Amino acid sequence: MKEPARHTITAALPYANGPLHIGHIAGAYLPADIYVRNLRQRGKEVLFICGSDEHGAAITIRAMKEGTTPRAIVDTYHALMGQAFQDFGIHFDIYDRTSSELHRETSQGFFLKLLENGAFSVQEEQQYFDEEAKQFLADRYIMGTCPSCGNPDAYGDQCEKCGSALSPKDLIDPRSTLSGAKPVLKPTQHWYLKMDEAQQWVDTWINTGMLDGTQHHDPKEWKASVLGQCNSWLKDGLRPRAMTRDLDWGVPVPLPGAEGKVLYVWLDAPIGYISATKRWAAEHNTDWEKWWKADDTRLIHFIGKDNIVFHAIIFPILLKLHGGYVLPQNVPANEFLNLEGRKISTSRNWAVWLHEYLERWPGRQDELRYCLATIIPEQKDSEFTWKDFQDKNNNELVSIVGNFVQRVFVLCHKYYDGKAPASGEKLDQDIALWSAVHGSVEEVAKHIDHFRLRDALSSAMNVARAGNKYLSDSEPWKLEKSDPERTRTILANSLNIGAVLSIVLEPFLPHTTAKLRRMLGIGVLPWNEAFRSDLIGEGQALGKPEHLFKPITDAEIQPEIDRLHANAPVETAPASAPAPGPAPAAPVAKANIAFDDFAKLDLRVGTIVAAERVPKADKLLKLSIEIGEASPRTVVSGIAMHFSPEQLPGQQVVLVANLEPRKMRGVESQGMVLMAEDASGKLVFVQPKDVVAPGGEVR
Ligand code: MF3
Ligand code: ZN
Repeated sequence: MKEPARHTITAALPYANGPLHIGHIAGAYLPADIYVRNLRQRGKEVLFICGSDEHGAAITIRAMKEGTTPRAIVDTYHALMGQAFQDFGIHFDIYDRTSSELHRETSQGFFLKLLENGAFSVQEEQQYFDEEAKQFLADRYIMGTCPSCGNPDAYGDQCEKCGSALSPKDLIDPRSTLSGAKPVLKPTQHWYLKMDEAQQWVDTWINTGMLDGTQHHDPKEWKASVLGQCNSWLKDGLRPRAMTRDLDWGVPVPLPGAEGKVLYVWLDAPIGYISATKRWAAEHNTDWEKWWKADDTRLIHFIGKDNIVFHAIIFPILLKLHGGYVLPQNVPANEFLNLEGRKISTSRNWAVWLHEYLERWPGRQDELRYCLATIIPEQKDSEFTWKDFQDKNNNELVSIVGNFVQRVFVLCHKYYDGKAPASGEKLDQDIALWSAVHGSVEEVAKHIDHFRLRDALSSAMNVARAGNKYLSDSEPWKLEKSDPERTRTILANSLNIGAVLSIVLEPFLPHTTAKLRRMLGIGVLPWNEAFRSDLIGEGQALGKPEHLFKPITDAEIQPEIDRLHANAPVETAPASAPAPGPAPAAPVAKANIAFDDFAKLDLRVGTIVAAERVPKADKLLKLSIEIGEASPRTVVSGIAMHFSPEQLPGQQVVLVANLEPRKMRGVESQGMVLMAEDASGKLVFVQPKDVVAPGGEVR
């Protein structure tokens, strides 16, 4: 194995079909960010790549559900996710997207090279076709009765009730989710990757680390769960897999006669890592190829467990059959994160959304980073609870880190006028202290190298624990009068522990360590400096004693738990049990009204022509709605949690047009938009089935 000259680190491209939640963060992005930050501290050359995965049925289905276009969906969520990563301190060198022109070129070129190298066999098969919608149906577009459990709403690829993996032809009474029609089988042709022919070398590569006669990686470094999933595929025997789909959203198959076909999303998405590298390189006027092709490049993919075979088997086969590329050295996949006893579910709104957290806990990124880093599902599924978040904040961040730094700064201000004391003794004479501190520093790096990030954080915290113990044992506040020299030594040592902390905690708590550095009056220090005990020069001016962390009260935490339940009214089963169906709608409970009362309503069809957020009101959007009058109506609507402004123009709505105008947040609202609520609490527009000219009466 070559000593790597550079590290290409990827984090799974998230689907741009919804916002990011803490499960995404704990499963892939935070571990990757911690790992990358540490590599950079150690002076390694690193490229950290991510972007939005904008193709595939995940996107088109979301667009269909929201009555909008795939383009509108990906534009909305690409922006939202990019911002959330940035705000949360997850700093990629590039956050790209797979709907770009450069990516189309790159993935089509990749496909053609594979074709030229004989990677595909063309096969004709019978596939379900919707004659009303005039299109072939992706697995997710077909529903029917599950052959194993009788669930009438199983999908073409999986039954969510009993968990069976299905193929569309297994479904009893299949129906198209596009039109409701009964789909018919029609022949279609696809390009299959000859995975069967790769069986031998993939098996050897994964299980021994040998590739083309040289030692490529040490398989003992791979997680058991990753090896386990790969070997279970290998045991079944690798089979040819279609690399094209009949779909109108994606990268077009660049061949004559392939109209209406696109590249399989799991072909195009990982190539997105390469396109992103190209874009980064172009923007930085440098070469992209060495990051993928030089044999001293170390490629690592951070992913969640549902992505394992794609990154550890299929993508490596693609890279090898293309030729010229390095294969991943490791694929440190994580398991799943649960939330308050249940599986995280986007559709049931059982999630803590990153952008919402950042709005409700401004400036408290590191508190969440910390809590999530302590529960990264490295070996098995783990769980986030708000109580645990509070406990870890109060008992670890406040009590251990914050408290230590606070005590040291208060004393230095009190005794030495805010200057670092000159030590009368040699600082490293407190051997026990410094061997504990430096021992912990060493452990942090060792754990990170083996992708044990939870252990790494706990070792980093041991530095702060050692500092606290040192203060408590030596009690400088009692010595100042009797032994000023010893007191100076203790506090000088303590400040230096603070400096070490600013290094070892940086990968985990980058916002906090930036603050700590300002307080200590030091800059960013490389990792090796954490093995010193004299980082703070005597007489150095110190910043004000600031609280790095604030305690979190029950009164702050309870609303988080309440809103989780309020926003997910459907009673969901515990993580391991099958989920029940939707909750019944509330019974009609309002008293009857006379027809005349109903006739008083003037309901009109309108078309949204513009939408924007209302400043400082996170639930409200200001809509301009055309209803055939001289100018559009202005309506303030409480739907900002459900729709982003960009996706609204063009939507038809039903407007209560004669509602008494009223001011909301200083804006006069001239009417009300009717919305329907589904079982999960999600709002959808009430609108005419066919387009009606604005102003049309609703009777
Ligand atoms: N979008 C996929 C998911 O969220 C991950 C794609 S990773 C890539 O599961 F390699 F394909 F980009
Ligand atoms: Zn089933």
